[in-house]
Amino acid sequence: MDVLLAMKERRSARAYLDKEVPRRDIEEILASACQAPSAINLQPWEFIITHGEEKDRLVRRLLKARSERVVACGPETAQPLPRKFSRRSAEALAVMEPPIAALGLPFRQFIEEGSCAFYGAPVVIIVAIDKIFPVIRYLDIGLAVSYLLLGAHAKGIATCPIGLIRAYSEDIAQSLNIPETKEILLAIALGYADTNSPANAFRTTRADLRDIAAWYE
Ligand SMILES: Cc1cc2nc3c(=O)[nH]c(=O)nc-3n(C[C@H](O)[C@H](O)[C@H](O)COP(=O)(O)O)c2cc1C
Repeated sequence: MDVLLAMKERRSARAYLDKEVPRRDIEEILASACQAPSAINLQPWEFIITHGEEKDRLVRRLLKARSERVVACGPETAQPLPRKFSRRSAEALAVMEPPIAALGLPFRQFIEEGSCAFYGAPVVIIVAIDKIFPVIRYLDIGLAVSYLLLGAHAKGIATCPIGLIRAYSEDIAQSLNIPETKEILLAIALGYADTNSPANAFRTTRADLRDIAAWYE
């Protein structure tokens, strides 16, 4: 598949079919993620893959943790966002809310509980980095995650990056025996998108190039 087309087409999926992803495909997707560039080729990314019974156990644990300690989906900034950014998230909500309303669930509940349940995806990839690395190395992880999302899309497999689960990192670490020396950065839901679900019936927009690029010539 053409890379530019994959970039254009990819979108996050929030409803999945109950259909297993062959392990060979997961391995190919991970291998494509590992083709990402990294500073001095450190390849600091680590992927913990869970599916089947283990994944179901993890979901139960996260839903329980959420029932005891609700964490709202937000930008995790110390200060309120400047208008330019808050407008973008408001625009995303405007396209997401109407189809989600068709599911009969309050939007926040759909996103927050859904994130903890990885939206029912058959496979979950936890992305981690050794705490020895400084925050700048998260950049390398972001690149690998991009490659992973595009690699999956090229194979007809949908994904959703899920950052909200960081609020429950301890539960994830205990559940999957991830040592304290690792920082959990992200989960990625992975599977075949349920294209009939209203949860997948929207596309977020992007800021105009003029808003994000400055040219000096
Ligand atoms: C680092 C990161 C964290 C995210 N966390 C969540 C999340 O916790 N829950 C969720 O439903 N979507 C999450 N998303 C998906 C974004 O909402 C989505 O990428 C954005 O709205 C753009 O839409 P698209 O991926 O369909 O193009 C996350 C995306 C990224 C890159």
